[in-house]
Amino acid sequence: MSHAFLEIEGLSKRYLAANHGEGLTVFEHINFGIEKGEFVCVIGHSGCGKSTILNVLAGLDDASDGVVIMNGKEVAGPSLDRGVIFQNYSLLPWLSAMKNVAFGVQARWPTWSKDKLHEHSLKYLDLVGLKDAAHRKPSELSGGMRQRVSIARAFATQPQLLLMDEPFGALDALTRGVIQEELIKIWSESKQTVFMITHDVDEAILLSDRVLLMTNGPYARIAESVKISIPRPRNRNSIIHDPGYYKIRNHLVDFLVSRSKELSGAAGEEVRETTFVDPAIEDDDPLETDKALAKTGS
Ligand SMILES: Nc1ncnc2c1ncn2[C@@H]1O[C@H](COP(=O)(O)OP(=O)(O)OP(=O)(O)O)[C@@H](O)[C@H]1O
Ligand SMILES: [Mg+2]
Repeated sequence: MSHAFLEIEGLSKRYLAANHGEGLTVFEHINFGIEKGEFVCVIGHSGCGKSTILNVLAGLDDASDGVVIMNGKEVAGPSLDRGVIFQNYSLLPWLSAMKNVAFGVQARWPTWSKDKLHEHSLKYLDLVGLKDAAHRKPSELSGGMRQRVSIARAFATQPQLLLMDEPFGALDALTRGVIQEELIKIWSESKQTVFMITHDVDEAILLSDRVLLMTNGPYARIAESVKISIPRPRNRNSIIHDPGYYKIRNHLVDFLVSRSKELSGAAGEEVRETTFVDPAIEDDDPLETDKALAKTGS
């Protein structure tokens, strides 16, 4: 029996009235665990159910079957213990960057003095490079700056679990790179547990301890869990020189291009666990795949 910090067991989502009344099973048999402090990314094609899973973890949507257990307690409804960063920034437009952050902080620690709220919120705005823009409203900020405010807000409330739904999807590549590095910095200080959706394979490798691979829907499932063993600290420029980088990258791209489709609809609840051993450490067998089908977290 697994005792991960976050446990997802037998999750499925069905829409009974969809498909002209035939019903639609978006995904089923979703099983995985996340350890405390772990950074886990999920990748899979559009429509396979990633956002739905994230919303279920947040307590914003209900699964048709299965349970989500965090810290031994079943997730039912939203909570300040779980912070969410959506793709569309979702800031309050009439409040400054500072007040957008402080709003969440105050909800979390209602007894804090104004000075303490201010100091704490500013610390997080500073971590994402926005100290000087703290007084500006969202309409006076660029898309990248707005997304930084939402990252600062989410981290400032120090949730036990941070859920991010393609947080950088709308940003240009340069801005995305800068914010990814800010995210790594802030995460390595806070050691929060993160579950993040991305379409970007390089982003997944840069950020994750583990990448979950979802097959195409309907009847999508998590087919594989790939451990990213590239040592930290990582940054965009140096990571591509890691001897294991392209092996992992090719493996993930190959999944998206062919295996996500080949495996789609295939029965099974097992999650294959794959580990790439860094060839710099063990050069006799650079790719070690655990072919024994092992259920994650059990
Ligand atoms: N109310 C609904 N009725 C029927 N089907 C729905 C409903 N809401 C969502 N779906 C279906 O659920 C599936 C999963 O949606 P979800 O948003 O979770 O996908 P996703 O993996 O996040 O996709 P993307 O990468 O495009 O964001 C989609 O195929 C969608 O059509
Ligand atoms: Mg989505």
